[in-house]
Amino acid sequence: MKFSHRPVLYKEILSLLDCKPGDIIVDGTLGGGGHAYGILEKITPGGILIGIDRDPEALGYSTKRLSKFGDSFISIQGNFSNIDSILEGLNISSIDGMVLDIGISSPQVDNPNRGFSYMHNAPLDMRMNPDQEFSAYDVVNTYSRSELSRILWEYGEERWSSRIAKFIVDNRPIETTGELVEVIKAAIPAGARRKGPHPAKRTFQAIRIEVNRELESLKIGLEKGIEVLKSGGRLCVISFHSLEDTIVKRTFKNYENPCICPNDAPICICGRKPKIKIITRKPLTAKGEELKINPRARSAKLRVCQKL
Ligand SMILES: C[S@@+](CC[C@H](N)C(=O)[O-])C[C@H]1O[C@@H](n2cnc3c(N)ncnc32)[C@H](O)[C@@H]1O
Repeated sequence: MKFSHRPVLYKEILSLLDCKPGDIIVDGTLGGGGHAYGILEKITPGGILIGIDRDPEALGYSTKRLSKFGDSFISIQGNFSNIDSILEGLNISSIDGMVLDIGISSPQVDNPNRGFSYMHNAPLDMRMNPDQEFSAYDVVNTYSRSELSRILWEYGEERWSSRIAKFIVDNRPIETTGELVEVIKAAIPAGARRKGPHPAKRTFQAIRIEVNRELESLKIGLEKGIEVLKSGGRLCVISFHSLEDTIVKRTFKNYENPCICPNDAPICICGRKPKIKIITRKPLTAKGEELKINPRARSAKLRVCQKL
């Protein structure tokens, strides 16, 4: 496995995370360890970085890369949505900061055997964690037509969701990504197929999000992440599409202003107190040189909040 991609918004993460020697930081999406490397340089000596990833291949790679930091680096195979129990297992009750760089990595997409890409023919898989039983095969071959249509619409924002769902159901069993691409192409009228991105892009994104329960993990991970931050600690989240960014934006807003009293109530009676301050009113995006050398950075949005 080769992590060729540069970590997105690297300088911005290091500056906004605002970490210092001795800090305990969680990188919930360790990947190739690019952000983690920079963080470890800032928090050592004395600090600890807990790197979490669902994918054992990514963990294997980054554990080697970060071995020079010795005991300051702890790697955990798991889901960042379990941050509370992961910290409990390490006897750590609170942390100084957390980073999430959501989604899949380039090596995951580029590995022809993992079924993430519509460019390579492979078994329908798309699991970030290969120990998980549920895979893209199950979504494609067992979901009802209406369930398929819903996930393609909601997670892929695919306007041909209903037709693609019908074609999938009519052509089962579908065993490989190559077969699925052909079914999607047949479902989308030729005129529509000629415009825009690859016709299978949105369907593949939707199935991947469903297989890995990505939006649920994000919602839970954000809430638990905010809870375990120390006062003054920061949570930095990079997302890559509007569904994820909306979840981050809403969660931050709800934690900054949780009051549910009616607008005309003279004083707050619900008793819900703000837990965070939003640091980035507008999300930060990649600029200039980074966009030239890293096309993946184009859709990245970084939002940061600080625990009160
Ligand atoms: C974009 S990459 C992260 C790259 C990393 N920031 C770097 O600097 O190399 C995303 C990684 O997060 C992992 N991942 C995605 N969702 C996860 C989750 N809910 N829990 C743990 N890891 C997750 C993926 O397996 C992938 O390796």
